[in-house]
Amino acid sequence: MNQAATLKQWKAYCSFDSLSVNGRKSQNTALASYPRVLCFSSGKGGVGKTSIVTNLAIAMAQMGKKVLVLDADLGLANVDVMLGITPKYSIQHVFSGERTLSDVIIKGPSGIKLLPASSGIQELCHLNESEKLFLLNEFDCLEEPVEVMLIDNAAGISDTVMYFNMAAQNRVIILTPEPTSITDAYALIKVLSKRYMVKEFSIVVNWTNSRQEAYKIFKQLTAVADRFLGVLSFNFLGYIPKDTSIPKSVMQQKPALELFPESKASQGFRRLAENILNLDLSTNDGNIKFFWKNLLRL
Ligand SMILES: Nc1ncnc2c1ncn2[C@@H]1O[C@H](COP(=O)(O)OP(=O)(O)OP(=O)(O)O)[C@@H](O)[C@H]1O
Ligand SMILES: [Mg+2]
Repeated sequence: MNQAATLKQWKAYCSFDSLSVNGRKSQNTALASYPRVLCFSSGKGGVGKTSIVTNLAIAMAQMGKKVLVLDADLGLANVDVMLGITPKYSIQHVFSGERTLSDVIIKGPSGIKLLPASSGIQELCHLNESEKLFLLNEFDCLEEPVEVMLIDNAAGISDTVMYFNMAAQNRVIILTPEPTSITDAYALIKVLSKRYMVKEFSIVVNWTNSRQEAYKIFKQLTAVADRFLGVLSFNFLGYIPKDTSIPKSVMQQKPALELFPESKASQGFRRLAENILNLDLSTNDGNIKFFWKNLLRL
């Protein structure tokens, strides 16, 4: 759809047993490939989710991947602020029928795409059936394919945090060596595993002095989880060193990877990007459309 169709029009045209618009099924099959959808969460706030997601997206884009970042955090230090871009619209405008999804998605550095959802997060969780189908079709109609989708989730264990975790293929938990960050990461894993039956987690340790320290934190977390939470699978995805290039670049609202490409942190982002792209997702359970279907509980 080139022009924003209102939800009212959509409801009139939509046949609910199939995703058709004006009686015409979507021709777009670009999104039917199998992109990776990773959701980045943390128990404690301020552990580096947004810094990692934005720089990872750029690292992957520089490796030739088509990356979409979904900013799912209602907090202040959002992806757009870190990248110094000002989105005019958010997913809320898609729900209200004022804009199409393509209007809302904006381009960031190195060609990454950003879907600002923050001010529409609550709506996203409370859509009715026809609104869900409308949104799903909007995703189906996106012209450019997405190979990797990274979700910058909020901290904590709120319903919206769970919502995005349930819809993603890979759940990445970020923590730092701070004891409160470790206990809060454990609390998040506990809720996801006990209440939502999530059994596999990828772990990234941020703000460390060495790989050894990061791995020690990983072992600390998984030892407690193994003891009290039963059989779960943990994958040490990598670590990002403590590095002043990150706060410096946040201050300048530019990605560290562009301002300080050779910094320790930037090397870490590239390593992490490679690890993610090398993940064996042969058992993965979906594509972008599957993600949105899951998210929208269709
Ligand atoms: N590896 C690091 N070394 C040094 N500083 C870091 C590192 N990672 C993140 N920071 C700094 O920590 C602060 C918080 O980072 P960021 O905003 O990415 O965290 P967050 O988890 O997204 O926070 P929130 O939970 O509020 O969304 C930023 O000022 C950032 O510069
Ligand atoms: Mg953040």
